[in-house]
Amino acid sequence: MIPLLAMCLSLFVLVIPSIILYKLCWIPLHLQRSMEIQGIRGPPYRFFHGTTKEIIKMKQQTNDAVDMSLLDHDIFPIIQPYFYSWIKVYGNNFLHWIGTEPELVVSEPELIKEILSNKDGTFQKIKGRGYFKKLFGSWLVVAEGEKWSKLRKLSNHAFHGDCLKDMLPGMTACVESMLEKWRTQHGREIEVCSEFKQLSSDVISRTAFGSSYLEGRQIFDMLSKLGLLIFRNRLKITFFRKFIKTKDDMEAEKTEQLLHDSIMEIVKKRQLEVDSGKADSFGSDFLGSLLKCHHDTDPKSQISAAEIIDECKTFYFAGQETTFSLLTWTTFLLAIHTEWQERAREEVLQLFDQRNPNSDGIARLKTVNMILYETLRLYSPVTSILRRIDSKVKLGKYEIPADVKVAIPPLAIHRNPDIWGRDANLFKPEKFSQGVAKATNGNPTAFLGFGYGPRTCVGLNFAMTEAKIALSMILQRYKFTLSPDYVHSPSIYISVKPQHGVGILLHPLA
Ligand code: HEM
Repeated sequence: MIPLLAMCLSLFVLVIPSIILYKLCWIPLHLQRSMEIQGIRGPPYRFFHGTTKEIIKMKQQTNDAVDMSLLDHDIFPIIQPYFYSWIKVYGNNFLHWIGTEPELVVSEPELIKEILSNKDGTFQKIKGRGYFKKLFGSWLVVAEGEKWSKLRKLSNHAFHGDCLKDMLPGMTACVESMLEKWRTQHGREIEVCSEFKQLSSDVISRTAFGSSYLEGRQIFDMLSKLGLLIFRNRLKITFFRKFIKTKDDMEAEKTEQLLHDSIMEIVKKRQLEVDSGKADSFGSDFLGSLLKCHHDTDPKSQISAAEIIDECKTFYFAGQETTFSLLTWTTFLLAIHTEWQERAREEVLQLFDQRNPNSDGIARLKTVNMILYETLRLYSPVTSILRRIDSKVKLGKYEIPADVKVAIPPLAIHRNPDIWGRDANLFKPEKFSQGVAKATNGNPTAFLGFGYGPRTCVGLNFAMTEAKIALSMILQRYKFTLSPDYVHSPSIYISVKPQHGVGILLHPLA
């Protein structure tokens, strides 16, 4: 008995610490060394925390010091000060650590192209885990292989061509109700960030899910709550997460269940309409397409109820979060660059006069298109495009070991002076006057507003159409200027947002 006890004790005292030391010291240091030998350097790995403490400290320092000029669009050092500093010290490609997880930051266009255009699954989407999984599930945003291509086809169909055309009246109606509210507020300041947040929630709820504003709003409130929990916990490192639940973990579980139930209600309502004979099909919107797949007789094409829920979560979230950021920053930029506001208005009035935008005219909005692309370049809502590597791979001249995450920072790429010139931080929509390909000097990965390659944003046309309709209808009715109380303090909270909102003053056109 005693020798057995002694053996267990020695196992506990010797073996377990050795395993911990191996995992927390030897593996990271070995990986760091193997990258250094190849010329990829980075801030040194610190026991257990990696480089997270430095990240938190640098972020805190910039938060304290933020005081930007209105015309200064150099937000990269404010939003990601750690990447900004480390690129300066270690070069375009460097290694850093989220706890014990190595992350290779890549900002060299050729390597980015290799990563994002890959089709054989070498560079995969990161796996949805923890809070991230609760928000997105394990579906289109993170799925791979057959599962991904099936859903990608379905989403491509639902958000392009005729289906997108069918959504125009719904989008226009949502903008009209926002503007109706604005009419009662003339002479007062309008905070457009919250206005556009509501608008983009309303648009995606109505056009893709046929749900009411109220149903949609409940879903967005829950998604925002999960988003906040992700953000709050993204740099927390703990070994015991699997065993001990924090208050945030419990809150996330409760919210996820409520979210699931609310989406299920919308799905069941649509199903009931068909079962009861009230409707003769599931409909041609996105939810209708998902339900059609759910009932497909071919098991290969079928999707489960859980997969429908995951997919709905993804589109509710992706459809809102990024689009309202784009609309907010565009309005901010046009409020300070009034010459571009005037040019955009001229174009809109020429194409539509006082009529609501139609699909032919939307396709011909060249100046508005240039302005939206320039806004996405300077204020890209997405700040990191992430991939993972499961086994050792070759990337350019480098050999990257297994289990390394890859992060591509669009804000850095969009300010590369070799591509965008010395005035890369200035608002100059004319850069896009001959399209994105010309603007990027033949470097397709120099503009990553909507990503690149097979995983390019599936909602690109939907988002651009929504933004063009909203801007056109505002420009038809108002001139707008920036509130004198506005403080320029871009911050990152899931996507890039103005920390204190954007107040604008409306001047109705006669
Ligand atoms: C201004 C608005 C938007 C921006 C800037 C944006 C940006 C992006 C970017 C950069 C990616 C690529 C991510 C990667 O490669 O890892 C992406 C993917 C995606 N976006 Fe968007 N997006 C916008 C609007 C939308 C909308 C409106 C929807 C849905 C209606 C949407 C749904 C998606 C989905 C599902 C993916 C994943 C596609 C896949 O992996 O195959 N996005 N988006």
